[in-house]
Amino acid sequence: MSIWKATKVAEMSAREKAHMEKVRKFAAEGMVLLENDGTLPLAADTKKIALFGNGARHMIKGGKGSGDVNSRSVVGVEQGILEAGCEVVSGSWLDEYDKICTDAKGAYDARVKDLIENSGNPMAGFMEIFNNPYHDPDVQEITDADMADADAAVYVIARDSGEGRDRKPVAGDYELTDNEKKNIEKLAARYDKFVVALNVGGVVDTKALRSTKGVGAVLLMSQAGNVIGTVFADALFGKSIPTGHLAMTWAENYSDYPAFDTFSSQNGNVDDEYYNEGIFVGYRYFDSFGKKPAYPFGYGLSYTSFDISVKDVSLAGEELTAKVEVKNTGDKFAGKQLVQLYVSAPDGNVEKPVKELKGFAKTKELKPGESDELTIKVKVSDFASYDESKASYVLEPGKYFIRIGENACSTHIAAAVEVAGEIVTQKLANKMKVDTDLNEISAKGATPLTYDGEESEKAAAKVLTLDAGAIKTVVAEYEGAPTEYNCDKAEKITLEDVKSGKATMEDLLGQLTREEMADLCVGTARGGFGGTSVIGTASAVVPGAAGDTSSKMATDRGVHNLVLADGPAGLRLTPYFAVDEENQYIPEQSAMAFDFAGTFEQPTTDIHGEVTKYYQYCTAIPIATMLAQTWNMDVIEEAGDIVGTEMEELGVNLWLAPGMNIQKNPLCGRNFEYYSEDPLLAGMCAAADTKGVQKHKGCGTTIKHFACNNQEDNRMHTNAHVSERALREIYLKGFEVAVRQSQPLSIMTSYNLINGIHAANNYDLLTAICRNEWGFEGVVMTDWGTTGGIEMEQRTFKYGCSNAADCVRSGNDLTMPGSDEDVKNILDNGVTRAELQACTRRILDCVLKCRY
Ligand code: BGC
Repeated sequence: MSIWKATKVAEMSAREKAHMEKVRKFAAEGMVLLENDGTLPLAADTKKIALFGNGARHMIKGGKGSGDVNSRSVVGVEQGILEAGCEVVSGSWLDEYDKICTDAKGAYDARVKDLIENSGNPMAGFMEIFNNPYHDPDVQEITDADMADADAAVYVIARDSGEGRDRKPVAGDYELTDNEKKNIEKLAARYDKFVVALNVGGVVDTKALRSTKGVGAVLLMSQAGNVIGTVFADALFGKSIPTGHLAMTWAENYSDYPAFDTFSSQNGNVDDEYYNEGIFVGYRYFDSFGKKPAYPFGYGLSYTSFDISVKDVSLAGEELTAKVEVKNTGDKFAGKQLVQLYVSAPDGNVEKPVKELKGFAKTKELKPGESDELTIKVKVSDFASYDESKASYVLEPGKYFIRIGENACSTHIAAAVEVAGEIVTQKLANKMKVDTDLNEISAKGATPLTYDGEESEKAAAKVLTLDAGAIKTVVAEYEGAPTEYNCDKAEKITLEDVKSGKATMEDLLGQLTREEMADLCVGTARGGFGGTSVIGTASAVVPGAAGDTSSKMATDRGVHNLVLADGPAGLRLTPYFAVDEENQYIPEQSAMAFDFAGTFEQPTTDIHGEVTKYYQYCTAIPIATMLAQTWNMDVIEEAGDIVGTEMEELGVNLWLAPGMNIQKNPLCGRNFEYYSEDPLLAGMCAAADTKGVQKHKGCGTTIKHFACNNQEDNRMHTNAHVSERALREIYLKGFEVAVRQSQPLSIMTSYNLINGIHAANNYDLLTAICRNEWGFEGVVMTDWGTTGGIEMEQRTFKYGCSNAADCVRSGNDLTMPGSDEDVKNILDNGVTRAELQACTRRILDCVLKCRY
């Protein structure tokens, strides 16, 4: 019997095809139409397209790094347009750019090869790929000769980023290059119909696009996975309708973002990051400080127009219900509209942002003239703010204005909830006090964004009075030291015995030795496939999976291993591999799962000799930001379901995704792996993704990176100094929402320190807050190599690494991908049996859920 779950069939499977078709159906929901003067959609009789831009052929399906998914193929923009039946008339310009890229890539690869072969450091090539990743060079200028007659022109601007490195506010990254600007001007002047498409995972400067006369439409096509070209062509020709809305504020200038000059390496200090913007992140900042963005949070146009009218807002107990009617007022195109509900809380002891998102709903697809009634329900206790002086979430007295609209800068007051006296909604304890004097900004004295008639709307708002008795204070209970279990039963207890009820979990824990438990609490990266495993491909069970838990107790105690593989934009595995007659993996004849610069030579797929070949191509789904832009939880659940189906098929138990850090600043190199600047939206998206995955037997998600993994430069050693309030309301909130709504099977801690303590070693974060306050029941694991050994720079770091013993003590159950030193560290550093038993129990519970 084969030990491999992968298929021996080389041809594209029915599952691959079906999943690509599913993505094709929903991806337009995540594309955001930023500008449109009627240019889009292009007419059905469009025959010739002049296609330009660095993303026309070299489009980005998702970002770089551990989240790069090895799909069988990627449909590019040019291919998508050709397959839609159009001719591309700019082939020679595209060929010339191909050549520029091939030369640049050749030079880059030669440099990496030289480092590997001649630097004397085996990790040097890998470090170079991380620290100076390859990016396609600037485009060449378009000449008059390049601009042949066409029905329309399309310019695709692509941007790539990845883990280990933050983006930069410079031309070619956040800014457009001079050539890009010139090219756009030329095309705008030459063609009547001109579309700019943004194949980006995060924000870019859009000033030139808005100021150039003749740019008819700007479509944030985003990064939709391996059918990106098809999905784009569908939207271009109106076969599908973009209905996405932004999940992050797009500023006029990079310097409009709070703390823009101190973020990551912007001020030269990557050791300490001071979160001086406090809770004023994203639209909370732009609103409160009166900074008008280029495109607000929640913004998105449609091919048609809508009318939103609030029918009723009512309060029953603490549940507020808004009924909103949405009508498609256009006469040509169908569309879906998103309605957002924000709350403006009164200032009091605690300063409040102008508004915060509390709920939203999206219509079904409405035909011209058609209407839909949406119901948005929210709880008043969720309007509370964290008051550090009371260590509590508090509803301060006053009026809470309910705003309803289509984006953060376009809402109207729909009602007000009157809270007569202070209500403590949750009595907690301050657990994450900031370790330094922060200089948090205050919006006092600033002129917030407003609109004509806002004050009269407030004065006329229907007031709903909250019955104070409708909200009961929740008082957190924190656990004490863990209990130690002992068992003197003679026969050896197994996990099967626990499952069948023949023995209790406590009996099994009582029998396990410290050595057995320490081994289980550390992953098994002790070689991987053929000893070639690098970080991120350390599994010895499923080729290309990121790691496994121990199977040392599989035979005598029935504790089978769990297989862990990356995301978030799909499942990252080795696409194909070969084994010999003894079923032994042959590295030289197998593809790599972690070659995100495409630098290393992959074996040819035509393998000779007495070998058996296996295939495990996975679907690259849209990046997390694009999923969030759908604002459609059913769509995100479906994306999770795609991944869960592939996990089940290929034998993966825990998906190392979704990523859900807050998009604090647009330069974070991993923003594309995250959902939003808003914690509620991020938390709901993660919950929907989790529900999709966890429908599948033996499969669970790992929400990551808990917490404050908001920058990539020096990510392993950076110390995030954050106030307890900003942590609780912004950076932890999304995780809280995801845990409460979907109970993911696991959580991955981040590399960084928070207020002086590594996330993986932080008892208060992992046990007191996550488990005791929120009720998290699953496993907590580290990020890969956080206990040391994989430095990406050769220098002395101000802050060191986390350690495996403190992982166990703090409730970080698994140290991944694991080393013998980690096991030794646990055994030699006074970790008690009870502490080991607490972590072991959670891992065993997960094994029971996934493998039994
Ligand atoms: C990343 C994680 C990833 C892990 C395993 C790390 O470098 O930060 O997000 O899950 O590698 O590949």
